[in-house]
Amino acid sequence: MAAPRSIVLIGMMGVGKSSVGRCLERRTGLQRFDIDEIVAERLGMPIAEIFSRFGEERFRRAETEALSELRPNQPAIIVTGGGVVLRDENVQHLKRLGLVVWLHAEDDVLYERASRKRNRPLLATDDPRDTLSQLSAERASLYAEASELRIDTTERGHEEVSELILSKVQAIAAEQREQA
Ligand code: S3P
Repeated sequence: MAAPRSIVLIGMMGVGKSSVGRCLERRTGLQRFDIDEIVAERLGMPIAEIFSRFGEERFRRAETEALSELRPNQPAIIVTGGGVVLRDENVQHLKRLGLVVWLHAEDDVLYERASRKRNRPLLATDDPRDTLSQLSAERASLYAEASELRIDTTERGHEEVSELILSKVQAIAAEQREQA
């Protein structure tokens, strides 16, 4: 039988990856790895401070390093930062790790959710709403290419999104059993 795979959450900031990740962790009992949390812990400071003191490139390097340490034979819930798809090597690694799920939402909803916390360094611009729309448009094709499953979270809560992901995981497992 095929080994169980990880569930990897990708998507724009504010879409709810961290909350859905915690929900999935609780429901599956799998370990959760949140790449932003790992990077912040390693460098000993919040993500916004990493950006302001060392620049985005330093953050991206740490992000790739943290990701590359995750192994395909260790099923887990993996929560990524919104920019993880900017590097192709990250995307290839995510695909090896498991089912990559793109959490999607309309820009207004993303902005509303993302601006609840003032911890998004890429939104520290004169017009953060416009910046978010630009990033979202630039990245849409990268998220689409990286993912096997896309879930619109615009009108869905975390529990419902988790439920949808888990039913897809079960459907894939059932398909694999039939083929075995
Ligand atoms: C980023 C998103 C953030 C964090 C960093 C860069 C991005 O994570 O990794 O600020 O490039 O979109 P969230 O998606 O959890 O906000």
